[in-house]
Amino acid sequence: MFSRRTGWDLAPNRLTLLLEERRRSGAPILDLTESNPTAVWLDVPGDEIRAAISLPGSLLYAPDPMGLPSARAAVAARYGIDPGRIVLTASTSEAYSWLFKLLCDPGDEVLAPTPSYPLCEYLAMLESVVVRPYPLGWDGSWHIELGALEAAIRPTTRAVLVVHPNNPTGAFLKREELRALDAICARHDLAIVSDEVFHEYGLADDDRRAGMVALESGVLSFSMSGLSKQAGLPQLKCGWIVVGGPEEVRSKALERLEMIADTYLSVATPVQVGLARLLELADSIRASIRSRLAKNRASLSRALSAAPSVQLLDSEGGWYAVLRVPAIRSEEEWALELLGSQGVLVQPGYFFDFATGGILVLSLLCREDVFTDGALRIARSASGL
Ligand SMILES: Cc1ncc(COP(=O)(O)O)c(C=O)c1O
Repeated sequence: MFSRRTGWDLAPNRLTLLLEERRRSGAPILDLTESNPTAVWLDVPGDEIRAAISLPGSLLYAPDPMGLPSARAAVAARYGIDPGRIVLTASTSEAYSWLFKLLCDPGDEVLAPTPSYPLCEYLAMLESVVVRPYPLGWDGSWHIELGALEAAIRPTTRAVLVVHPNNPTGAFLKREELRALDAICARHDLAIVSDEVFHEYGLADDDRRAGMVALESGVLSFSMSGLSKQAGLPQLKCGWIVVGGPEEVRSKALERLEMIADTYLSVATPVQVGLARLLELADSIRASIRSRLAKNRASLSRALSAAPSVQLLDSEGGWYAVLRVPAIRSEEEWALELLGSQGVLVQPGYFFDFATGGILVLSLLCREDVFTDGALRIARSASGL
């Protein structure tokens, strides 16, 4: 009856079961996995956002497959590029799915980093595309293991995915890595698909850091972002793809993307009409998100001074904190113990395919009172170890 693509094992894991039980019993939960910006009491200009999606024209339906010209121009102006290189989508997730349709036939492969956030694999699976992992190495900072990446390429490989900066490690792609990746992709005729949703959340300037991949790469490349993270407005459902690479292949990619986009016409008119204003408002929302991330990272670091066995890994940016905890129990047991005895919900590292074990991931976007309390409880739980 159903496709093999959707033949998932949907049985809840032990952490989900414990969470449901605590919710049912009304026991308090400090959710340090919360990364929905609309659920963490951020200071956002609500009236202005409502006004932006109610502008004249927002109720008129005159769709343009790649996005309304004014909306594409607004995105292009942020990057200083030609609006002809922008394709609007309903989200970055949708952008991935359109790029998989563009680049891959069923059974073709894309290479994706590990550790990284797990949604990529589902997005690929739903397009009948196979994800083959390539490793990111840690030697005090994260880097692409370029030899292993090239060794993973097969005749059916079509693209290399990069998450720039990575979720959850926070590592940005470096210019030198991009040069090496470009050379590999040119040798094997692969495209680069770059997820840049957290690009504007770098912690400190770093001259080694690559900018937008679609502007800096020499091969067919796609940079994806959207309002979800760039403006903390996931509910408005608007993302975009910037297409890069040599002019000839870029134009062909844009022609085909236009056809894909025309088949769905998925971006709602009000958000397109309001996009220029929303991108202006995004600056202040990002400032409020950055301040939240910095305060929570500082309070985590303070709390962990009482628990020297737990290490907060250095990060270059993004919304997450990665903790290395003593390997006295599995990651799942750590998460179960923290939820069961402290009421603190964290994500075990295996959700993100960390190779080493002993990793927990926290969202730094949480409300500050919730986060500080949770961080102190994690420290208390690990202090005697
Ligand atoms: C790295 C990364 N890319 C993409 C997304 C999805 O973004 P969107 O809401 O635009 O689909 C997420 C969501 O958490 C993410 O972490």
